[in-house]
Amino acid sequence: MSQQETLLRILELARWAPSGDNTQPWRFEICGDLRVAVHGLDTSDWCVYDFRGHPSHMAHGALLETMRIAASDEGLKMRWCLREGQAQNAPIYDVEFERDGNITSDPLVSCIRRRVVQRRPMRTTPLTLSQREALANAAGDDYEVDFLERLPQRWAVARVLWGSAYLRLICREAYEVHRRIIEWGVQHSEDRIPEAAVGVDAATAKLMRWAMGDWKRVSFFNRYLMGTVAPRIQLDLIPALACAAHIVIKPRSGLDTAADFVALGCAMQRVWLTAAHMGLHMQPEMTPVIFRWYARTGDPISRQAEVESGVRDVARAFETLLGISESDPVGFFCRIGVSRGPTARSLRLPIDDLMRQRAG
Ligand SMILES: Cc1cc2nc3c(=O)[nH]c(=O)nc-3n(C[C@H](O)[C@H](O)[C@H](O)COP(=O)(O)O)c2cc1C
Repeated sequence: MSQQETLLRILELARWAPSGDNTQPWRFEICGDLRVAVHGLDTSDWCVYDFRGHPSHMAHGALLETMRIAASDEGLKMRWCLREGQAQNAPIYDVEFERDGNITSDPLVSCIRRRVVQRRPMRTTPLTLSQREALANAAGDDYEVDFLERLPQRWAVARVLWGSAYLRLICREAYEVHRRIIEWGVQHSEDRIPEAAVGVDAATAKLMRWAMGDWKRVSFFNRYLMGTVAPRIQLDLIPALACAAHIVIKPRSGLDTAADFVALGCAMQRVWLTAAHMGLHMQPEMTPVIFRWYARTGDPISRQAEVESGVRDVARAFETLLGISESDPVGFFCRIGVSRGPTARSLRLPIDDLMRQRAG
């Protein structure tokens, strides 16, 4: 078996790492026998959720962690570093593998393909103490992991999500993103989110599809026909209540540089794979986190004044919910629980489309 085939097998598996809106912001270059360069992409030029490219950096971290786990199954130890001198929106990660007789296959390898986002209601069966411990340990010592589990806490989360979802639905910049990232009428999508995995019923999906054909329709609908209510009930209110818990991951020492966000993405993926290993499903709930990043840095998010002031309200409500101050970093927020698993999911681009030819 050639080293090239081994590397391709690792990449083939690692491409199942999650990314915001299934954008897969990475391309691979095999640079030598046991060396790969991961070319990170950044979608912040068109995706309002990709605040300063940081959610893409988190996806890069998830990918690198998945590569490490996949490599362990090949008896390889993996090291990576961020190449110096690259533009912030085009990071390159140099990855080196080394044969290691002592390495054992990471048990999470079996969950790489199985891990999937669940946007629909889950059971409210509480997490056990050992499940909570396993999830907190998976994040590692650099992160504090909190659980919001009791019904009043889930209601409080639902209220925050209700507010952030309203902004998401009335924001013109977000509308442009939603239009681009949903593939309508399908169960599976290689490069987007398929309609059936969005989390609304068929009638609401049909209405959303029609309305989203034109911004004027969306704003008419929102203003006069309470168009945000049905999607918010199905996508935010019910899921916030119908789960075992919400999880908050807080970095202990700041969240400032791109490297901090890559490390956060590694931790996020370990937690997500650990959840999958224990038969649990997860859904990131990043809208309030991202809106708070905008509010606390003062970066503009929208040309609409209502959205600008709304994100500041969401930030305050989120901080009250978590009992934190304006300067406390929050990296990741999600819901978790047991469910039968989604019937629809995002797929991935074929590995050939993700390979980048070596320059020169
Ligand atoms: C950084 C990051 C942020 C995400 N934010 C959300 C979110 O706010 N809501 C959501 O439903 N899914 C979110 N996702 C999940 C992605 O949409 C999902 O992983 C992607 O579409 C691929 O689908 P899969 O996880 O089922 O393979 C996020 C994923 C990542 C990596």
